[in-house]
Amino acid sequence: MTMTTPTDLYCVIGNPVAHSRSPWIHSRFAELTHQTLDYDRREVAMDGFDAGVRAFMDAGGRGCSITVPFKTQAAKLADHASERCLLAHAANLLTFQNGHILADNTDGIGLVNDIEHHASLALQGLRLLLIGAGGAASGVLGPLINARPAHIGVTNRTLTKASALVARHQSLAMLQNVELTTLDLLGLEGSFDVVINATACSLHGAGVPVDARVLKPGALAYDMMYGPHAQGFLDWARHHGAVARDGLGMLVEQAAEAFLVWRGVRPPSAQVLAELRSILGSK
Ligand code: ATR
Repeated sequence: MTMTTPTDLYCVIGNPVAHSRSPWIHSRFAELTHQTLDYDRREVAMDGFDAGVRAFMDAGGRGCSITVPFKTQAAKLADHASERCLLAHAANLLTFQNGHILADNTDGIGLVNDIEHHASLALQGLRLLLIGAGGAASGVLGPLINARPAHIGVTNRTLTKASALVARHQSLAMLQNVELTTLDLLGLEGSFDVVINATACSLHGAGVPVDARVLKPGALAYDMMYGPHAQGFLDWARHHGAVARDGLGMLVEQAAEAFLVWRGVRPPSAQVLAELRSILGSK
């Protein structure tokens, strides 16, 4: 008699979640690494996140990816959180272990890996500008510091939020010998090797929130979004001579790190990113 073991279950939880590329990405990782798993999507009501996670765990789920708007709530729900998750105040993946919920955040390392490996730009010693101080910016600042650029300026429409984000990361920055400062969006001085847009401007129909003078000639201008929402920033960047990059590689790389946490195997992310770009018809 042959025994069949149940397939390991994972999913992405969010609201909305129908658009999510995570099921395709994780299923492709599984195929390419010969892992057997099922990865689905689950939309939960705005007030139904905690119950939705517990229901998935009770149904035998092994872990889940978390997308908007639940990343902060996910970090709070967990019984244990990784250091990078505690610093980010947000989780993009949960792992279930013996009835406990473990929270982690791979968004920042996903961004750094995309820039360093796919865009082939080592961040060490460079000058970075991070625009935004909401959940998206908060998720990536720690790993950006760990990449040891010379300077990271954080700017935001609401300056107090940028100051709070900087204050929370200052001891890590000192440890890594990175100059970390808050910069006023109005009267922003100096130019940068890498400019990262972590704002939700495009979602609100607003334009690029900084002057093109922030771009050093040939700078990398990175929008953490992809698809139509990144387009305005990418067009602006190209128009001003920068190298423009959307957040599709970050999406694949954060998933690759999550896959590594869950399965102990690093998937071939460059191949999956190339395939996804070809499916979406993006460059
Ligand atoms: P997310 O979790 O996606 O980061 P968020 O926490 O609402 O979403 O943060 C959105 C970010 O986009 C913030 O930095 C926000 O600036 P404020 O902190 O001043 O709100 C920024 N943002 C949104 N709309 C903007 C606009 N029209 N101009 C400039 N910044 C904007």
